[in-house]
Amino acid sequence: MGRGHRAPLLTVIIAIDGPAGAGKSTVARQVAASLGYTYLDTGAMYRSVAWKAISASVDLAVEQALEDIARQLNIRFTALTSDGKQQVFADDEEVTDAIRTPEVSELTSRISAFPAVRRVVVEQQRRMGQMAGKGVVLEGRDIGTVVFPNAHLKIFLTASPEERARRRFDELQSRGLAADFAQTLAEQIARDSRDTYRPDSPLVAADDAVQLSTDGLSIPQVVTHILGLHKQCTAAQHD
Ligand code: DC
Repeated sequence: MGRGHRAPLLTVIIAIDGPAGAGKSTVARQVAASLGYTYLDTGAMYRSVAWKAISASVDLAVEQALEDIARQLNIRFTALTSDGKQQVFADDEEVTDAIRTPEVSELTSRISAFPAVRRVVVEQQRRMGQMAGKGVVLEGRDIGTVVFPNAHLKIFLTASPEERARRRFDELQSRGLAADFAQTLAEQIARDSRDTYRPDSPLVAADDAVQLSTDGLSIPQVVTHILGLHKQCTAAQHD
């Protein structure tokens, strides 16, 4: 399927894009839980490919080898629990925590720049999105621009780099991982730059996305705002 995948969608699609640490994950999970929609963490899919590449000792510079891994890997998510938790399985191995280490984050940022890897993973995301029943919230970097350019609602979440790094630092600490704030910020700036300047599917807001800065806003405020936008756009479709 090419970029111009614009057939009418039966499933309501909400795209939530933005840089790491903008609050996408927590917001997307809560929006999905409130609406009874499926939640699709597309970053976890790229992370699972990176995790598999490390565990299979694949040469990380060989695009074809990474594409083969992406194609063969069976990535599965459990349903979101009411408190927003979800497990990730790669080839039947539970990788929920293993894909969140700094090593996997770093490698994911590199391998997700390979067009061949993206092609395979995007196809899987479209399939999973379309099979999601009444609605799905997809969280990522290119959902509104590439994966579902005809999504019903597109949100681009941002926050200042320092605020995002602070959230990431707190998250690493709460998981008992050694973290240094300056290093967390430097790594995040490097990943943002790779995501933003890669030629294939760079991190950019779709022209028709609603841009929301989460600086100084609580998660419930952001979720309430998005639920209001969802209500408006589904009401408009029934007019
Ligand atoms: O959202 P995240 O931090 O789990 O994403 C991990 C990496 O995957 C990040 O470097 C960006 C990349 N990614 C992407 O290129 N496209 C997506 N749709 C989702 C994530």
